Amino acid sequence: MRILLLVHSFNSLSQRLYVELARDGHELSVELDIHDRVTSEAVQLFRPDLILAPFLKRAIPAALWQRHLCLIVHPGPPGDGGPSALDWAILRGVDRWGVTVLQAQAELDAGAVWASASFAMRTARKSSLYRHEVTEGAVRAVRAALERIAGGLGPLSARNQEPQHGWQPLLRQAQRAIDWTHDDSATVLRKIHSADGFPGVEDRLFDRCFRLFDAQPEMHLAGRPGVVIARRHGAVCRATRDGAVWIGQLQPVDGPQRNFKRPAVLALGALADALPATDDDPSDGEPADGHAAGAYASRGGEIRYEEYGAVGYLHFDFYNGALGTVQCERLRAAYARARRRPTRVIALMGGSDFWCNGMHLHCIEAADSPADASWDNINCIDDLARDILLTDTHLTIAALQGSAAAGGVFLALAADRVLARSGIVLNPHYRNMGNLYGSEYWSYLLPRRVGAVRAQSLMARRLPLGAVEARSLGLIDDHAGPDAATFRAHVDALAAELAADGRFTQTMADKCAERARDEQVRPLADYRSAELEQMRMNFYGFDPSYHIARHRFVYRTPHAWTPLHLAQHRGTARVRREPTSA
Ligand code: COA
Repeated sequence: MRILLLVHSFNSLSQRLYVELARDGHELSVELDIHDRVTSEAVQLFRPDLILAPFLKRAIPAALWQRHLCLIVHPGPPGDGGPSALDWAILRGVDRWGVTVLQAQAELDAGAVWASASFAMRTARKSSLYRHEVTEGAVRAVRAALERIAGGLGPLSARNQEPQHGWQPLLRQAQRAIDWTHDDSATVLRKIHSADGFPGVEDRLFDRCFRLFDAQPEMHLAGRPGVVIARRHGAVCRATRDGAVWIGQLQPVDGPQRNFKRPAVLALGALADALPATDDDPSDGEPADGHAAGAYASRGGEIRYEEYGAVGYLHFDFYNGALGTVQCERLRAAYARARRRPTRVIALMGGSDFWCNGMHLHCIEAADSPADASWDNINCIDDLARDILLTDTHLTIAALQGSAAAGGVFLALAADRVLARSGIVLNPHYRNMGNLYGSEYWSYLLPRRVGAVRAQSLMARRLPLGAVEARSLGLIDDHAGPDAATFRAHVDALAAELAADGRFTQTMADKCAERARDEQVRPLADYRSAELEQMRMNFYGFDPSYHIARHRFVYRTPHAWTPLHLAQHRGTARVRREPTSA
């Protein structure tokens, strides 16, 4: 089928559907929902069999749904409707939730139901539920709807009218408000989770107005309800009626640099200085030796380390996968610490939603000199990539449980093996960020894996890749899943096999010899300096494209047109996808 994806932005769900439907053999194009007239033009140009709307913020114009089959993906079960579907479900603590594919018509979310999928709810941020359960359900439901269309069948029901749900209005800040004297920690967490990543819960801290995100439970600390009692790296801890919660990200509502998130301590500035610090990365302090398998694990925080037999697992679950300079320095220290353990394999686990998305664009935007902050950030990530590349003590596995983009993808390629969860999406390119050239030794790592021609085409086409396609191109070694448990079992099995292999010493020697050979051909430092020369131009040169693109990205400025690499119906940028062998 020819399917036009009509989207507010090409977000994670739209990207996942794009890669899955392309793999199923459909012909796809994307149009951002900018103006009714532009959408009509896109339809005329592309002549789709179906318009699919996985992520829209406004109704599809009548002129469109009256003439074309338009299917909407709604993040709620049949019968549910409204703009705050998942938010209400989390706040109400429902056990099960769902995704519905329904037909656009005059009344919002009330059209015929073509397919649905249901899932068990999990205690997690809204954005995490959206990126995992909702996305997996949407892929299943869209495929089921397409099968019905292909089979000449009609919708499952004429109207979206299951009695137990119904239309839910927009959830307003007043209904999200935290009452710090009465709400227990579980309620505070639920309120913040239900609004995370957007719009956050509005609240006051130190007499300033912020939106709160990235809440985590605290097990030991307590204080007078509402009082901020500690800080841990970028997060602050606030007492509740029955304990305390960590708040990792704040978005200032007033002041000069408002309306984008950043680590709470950075947003508070000097206000956070007097807070007692509890820093607990695995790099801090030596653990006692002689622990049983799995017993040696660091507690809490974004960086965690666990060890089973000869395998160390380094987790780095940074909010939105953004790897800022400070976090990267901590991660380098934790990696060095992992290398000093008597193990043979290190699995680099990233986070559950994102493995890594490269430089921390929000922290860079908030810096006094974004150019200097970008320079420091890219150099630190390069240092980490070099540490991983030059590891001569361990075999390394990049275990991508979550998606990765830009520098995050190339950082993963520094490992000896790259495994991905089947449901993730990779964006192995930089140019969407104002023609950024990129570093992380990509000019060495990418051709090494996929060859020079494919490397160039991946960078140029600027489109997302699914795990299946990534494996068939040689970008990654393997994938498993789509659920996290199946993926982890696969990582465990590979890590254990590598560690127990009788040829381990020989494999390490071969790895070091290969690196030495490559170094002879062209030194790593040379790749780095050539990449950084281009990056210096991006950061400090006359062309401000990167700074403008970053600013628009961080402030979520709506697009004024659909980029041509997405709008394939708009002619010149017709980019054919390479066929996959899988
Ligand atoms: N630094 C800081 N924040 C980042 C980030 C980064 N590198 N990458 C993503 N984010 C944030 C977004 O700003 C957004 O913030 P919000 O919670 O305030 O809305 C959030 O993560 C989710 O991003 P979004 O774009 O809405 O999610 P998505 O799943 O639809 O798309 C990406 C994911 C990774 C493809 C997209 O965010 C992206 O292109 N990121 C930039 C990658 C990059 O260019 N890195 C720098 C070069 S190394």
